[in-house]
Amino acid sequence: MSQPASPSFIVDTDLLESNLQILADVSTEAECKIVLALKAFALPSLFPLIGRYLDGCCASGIHEATLSHENMGKHTLVYSPAYKPEELQDLLEFASHIDFNSIHQWERFREVCLAHPRYANGDLQFGLRINPEHSTGSVEKYDPCGPVSRLGITRQSLIDVDLTGISGLHFHTLCEQFTDDLASTLDAVHECFGDLLSRAEISWLNIGGGHWITKPNYDRAQLIELIKKTKEKYHLEELWIEPGEAVAIHTGTLEASVLDIVENGEEKIAILDVSPTAHMPDTLEMPYLPEVILQNQGKATDKIKYHLGGTSCLAGDQLGPYYFSRALKLGDRISFQDMAHYTMVKSTFFNGVTHPSIYLHSEQDGYSEVKKFGYQDFFNKLG
Ligand SMILES: Cc1ncc(COP(=O)(O)O)c(C=O)c1O
Repeated sequence: MSQPASPSFIVDTDLLESNLQILADVSTEAECKIVLALKAFALPSLFPLIGRYLDGCCASGIHEATLSHENMGKHTLVYSPAYKPEELQDLLEFASHIDFNSIHQWERFREVCLAHPRYANGDLQFGLRINPEHSTGSVEKYDPCGPVSRLGITRQSLIDVDLTGISGLHFHTLCEQFTDDLASTLDAVHECFGDLLSRAEISWLNIGGGHWITKPNYDRAQLIELIKKTKEKYHLEELWIEPGEAVAIHTGTLEASVLDIVENGEEKIAILDVSPTAHMPDTLEMPYLPEVILQNQGKATDKIKYHLGGTSCLAGDQLGPYYFSRALKLGDRISFQDMAHYTMVKSTFFNGVTHPSIYLHSEQDGYSEVKKFGYQDFFNKLG
């Protein structure tokens, strides 16, 4: 099959496998377990491959958990800011770990949790998400330790609480960060929760996601050392990491084509067959400017400025400015880089804009189509 038509997401499975190999090596060397955070990347057709390297998935609710259980079938770790009774009842049947975000939720469900036979036979464990109140990131929106964070229990709220039935603690406070921030977070966790972690009944710690493990300049040796030291310090049986971005980073593109070029005074805006707001919402939400490649771009000569706009009617549905070495023309193929993570999982059918198809690519097998979208998918969502 030749290069797929636009619009399309293309995930390179060779690159994905390189990331998975790095993660599997960390897991072996550090003697820890690593699961994929489905909120970042959740293509079930790739779960057999991912399951060969990782220990399962972490889910944020019943739908992601079911996806993990039915398509990967390894460990399913679940944490949700709040559970509904009927969802929790379903999760008890197959999750390996269920983490609670508040003492109130744990106390509400403790009886039904501890009465479940899977708890009694050791197949199911319960944990609490903690908030070490130690901010290390730079973007407020991604900081679960901020002053009005709803995510995780502060030490203040854990005083004099009966922890019978809880066997682990879970924190997630990082986002695209390196080991020095993990180290300072572990110090903060020790200061606030070290006494709990040292208790004999606490046998595991989940250090969340946000670790940029597969970035070339990430200090994996330090990560391995930190994990080993943490396990040793608290006599933990297990330490879990749940990366999302690190699994799929640098593995996929969103392929678009130029449909029109409009001018507004000095500004040129190329209208593409993709939509930033519908297909790569983080570019506007975060916001950030993704790298793009213009296909068959000759050698850079003049830098010609363009904005790249989507086919939705939202005025802000455009990115830029970008600078190209030649004038754009209709049909030009533009490839948005690094679009595998937090894209396909977040895309919408807003404004009825055609959703990009999903393809896989590998050196050995070439391109293969995973899914095409059409009017019926738009209709089904709302109808
Ligand atoms: C609880 C939890 N675990 C894991 C992750 C994955 O984080 P990342 O994709 O940055 O590795 C997230 C992301 O928000 C999260 O909220």
